[in-house]
Order: sequence, then C-alpha cells, then structure tokens
Amino acid sequence: MASIAIDGPAGAGKSTIAKLVAKKLDYIYVDTGAMYRAIAYELVKTGVDIEDEKALTDACAKMKIEIKYEDGVQQVYMNGENVTPYLRTEETGNMASKSSAKAPVRAALLDIQRNMAVEHNVVMDGRDIGTNVLPNAETKIYLTASADERANRRYKELTEKGEAADYEKIKADIIERDERDMNRDIAPLKQAEDAVLVDSSDMTIDEVVTEILTHV
Ligand code: DC
Repeated sequence: MASIAIDGPAGAGKSTIAKLVAKKLDYIYVDTGAMYRAIAYELVKTGVDIEDEKALTDACAKMKIEIKYEDGVQQVYMNGENVTPYLRTEETGNMASKSSAKAPVRAALLDIQRNMAVEHNVVMDGRDIGTNVLPNAETKIYLTASADERANRRYKELTEKGEAADYEKIKADIIERDERDMNRDIAPLKQAEDAVLVDSSDMTIDEVVTEILTHV
C-alpha cells in the first residue's frame, strides 16, 4: 500500500489539500486531527483532568474509537456514537492541542493510524505522520503558511459562514497552538528530514495540489 504524509501547523490548509490529493489518486483521506479532537471532546464531556495521569490513562483505556467511511467521508465513532459533527469548533481544536501532548492519548491512536495505512492507500494529515506514524511513507509533505495568512483564511471561512470572528484572537490562538504542537515532548510537529517543504502563503489551492502531485 502507498502512503502520502502531510504534516504542518494549524490552518495551513492540510485537510483541504489532502482531500483533493486523495481524490485525484483514488486514495482514502485520513484526518488524524479529527481523532485527537474526538478524544478531547470525550475528555471534556466526561470531565477528565488531563493533568491527572492515572485518570487520563484509565479514561483512554475505556474509549472505543472507530474510523469509518460514509460516502467516502471519514467519520469518527466514540463508544459507538458518531461524534464527527462536534469536532470542528475552535474550543475542541484548542483542547485537542493540549490533550494530544499526553502519552496515553497518543498511544491510544498510533496503532489505529498505522493500521489504516496497512489496509489502504492513504493520504494522511496531521502533525507527526512523516516523523512518527508513517516514517516510511513514499511521499512526505510539510505544508505551511505564515501565521497572518492562516489567520486570514480562518477569519474568511468563519465570516463567510456568518459566524462572529475576531482576527486578532484567531491569530493569537494559531500562534499559541503552533507553540504547543511544536514544543511538546512526544511527537512534536516538525518537518521530517525527507519531507518536501511547501509554503502555501502565496499559492492557490490548485497550485498546492499540483505541486504535491509532482512529488508523488
Ligand atoms: O489538525 P487539527 O487542527 O484537527 O488537530 C487538532 C490538534 O490535534 C492539533 O492542535 C494537535 C493534535 N494533533 C496531533 O498532535 N497529531 C496529529 N497527527 C494530528 C493532530
């Protein structure tokens, strides 16, 4: 099976790009961020203190996480319930950035992610795919963009949906999330030595997809 790893900071456009690349190649798109978000969502719902190592380990051991594809779109099931619709909020993203730094949380997902790449051709996006989850991926991309550009895109996305958005707050959140994801002890976000750097700050979506396909 073939795999393409796309890593990068929050808001770099990984999921948009990874979905398009997967479609072009007829691979499945694996969104690992959604899995970390599902755990964060469950931890908040059940009121687990993530600084309490034993409580966190016990909570993770009890979680049954399943990944399914419905009409070609990834769905994350937590203990039998499809939690996918609840995962894309800023709050859950920020929480996921905190809980994903913890060892029991990362251990709960590693095998699920690796197994998906054993069974399918995948385009997998996240923070540690090229460095840790799939170190032998055929193609590794580190997709980034300036913090200003990432905040701009997020701001536009929210305002186009008619949601309230504060540009400065969005940018501050992005910078804080970068800091945390890049500086944690386990599997921090960094460019793999053999990854191709793609800075999408001044590129269109089509240009990024085309560039990535040239490396596959
Ligand atoms: O890509 P995202 O915004 O959905 O990810 C949410 C958080 O999950 C992110 O801030 C860090 C964590 N994450 C991770 O640690 N490793 C991954 N492979 C994917 C996401």
